[in-house]
Amino acid sequence: MESLADRAYLVTGGGTGIGAATALHLAALGASVTVIGRREEPLKKIADEVRRQGGDALAHTADVRDPAAVEAAVDAAMDRFGRIDGLVNNAAGNFVTPAEKLSPNGWRAVVDIVLNGTWNCTSAVARRMIETNRPGSIVSVIATYAWTGHPGTVHSAAAKAGVVAMTRTLAVEWARYDIRLNCVAPGPTETEGAGSALWAEQEDRDRVLASVPLRRFAGAAEVGDLIGLLLSDRAAYITGTTLTADGGQSLGAQIYGPPLETNGASPSPR
Ligand code: HXC
Repeated sequence: MESLADRAYLVTGGGTGIGAATALHLAALGASVTVIGRREEPLKKIADEVRRQGGDALAHTADVRDPAAVEAAVDAAMDRFGRIDGLVNNAAGNFVTPAEKLSPNGWRAVVDIVLNGTWNCTSAVARRMIETNRPGSIVSVIATYAWTGHPGTVHSAAAKAGVVAMTRTLAVEWARYDIRLNCVAPGPTETEGAGSALWAEQEDRDRVLASVPLRRFAGAAEVGDLIGLLLSDRAAYITGTTLTADGGQSLGAQIYGPPLETNGASPSPR
């Protein structure tokens, strides 16, 4: 694995789930991290954990929907670490609901966090990279339903599709500044937040797992590892793309004929 020593990254939604795992992974590779989120407590916990492991971290509360709060967070990261090498747009909001029952405010809340929040953070960070004449890498966490669609997620799917379009557009436009932008589309990932919201009951878990050919959830740490890869120079020629890590879920589960035999293996999260 490539060292990220001397690098400084921002991770939104960095207090929990994939964001927290990513922050810890980047710190383990030697990078400094600024974790951003709405609630102070989980951010502090992750920043403390990074420090306990010998790294350097800053916890900064901000709602990604608020451009001024995002500016302040990016300024704080610049003041503390003197540079910004990359950003992970991980903050998201989601709930599953029939589209016809979705209120204007529910639509707005999710689109505001996912699409506008990603733009607020991306533009604030990229401006600093351009001003300081430094290359950079920006990774946004999306979901495969951005292109497959998925019932009950119209607000999130539309917003994440917007993030894909933003990523592709800026990958071309900001290539001249050596700023790379990519997305990671994880499949169902074993985190507290997703677990309690999306597969709280055993039958829900079973149904989700049945849709994944690899028959397991993703581990948050393995998603963090892929994000770290895209941030690093090993991915220096990769821009404007989406790395899907969904155990084959978006390719479709087996639906024809009786279940194929297995050798009894039951993979567990990494
Ligand atoms: C129906 C709901 C709802 C629900 C909220 N709303 N939850 N409607 N079912 N379960 C409606 C509210 O009634 C309100 O509309 C509007 O949404 C805004 O809700 P608020 O609670 O006032 O907004 P806010 O505090 O800003 O909360 C935003 C949120 C919330 C998105 C609604 O869930 C949130 O902050 N979540 C953050 C964490 C999160 O969701 N993470 C999951 C990411 S996973 P009205 O009309 O009543 O005012 C992910 C990918 C999953 O994105 C991929 C799986 C493979």
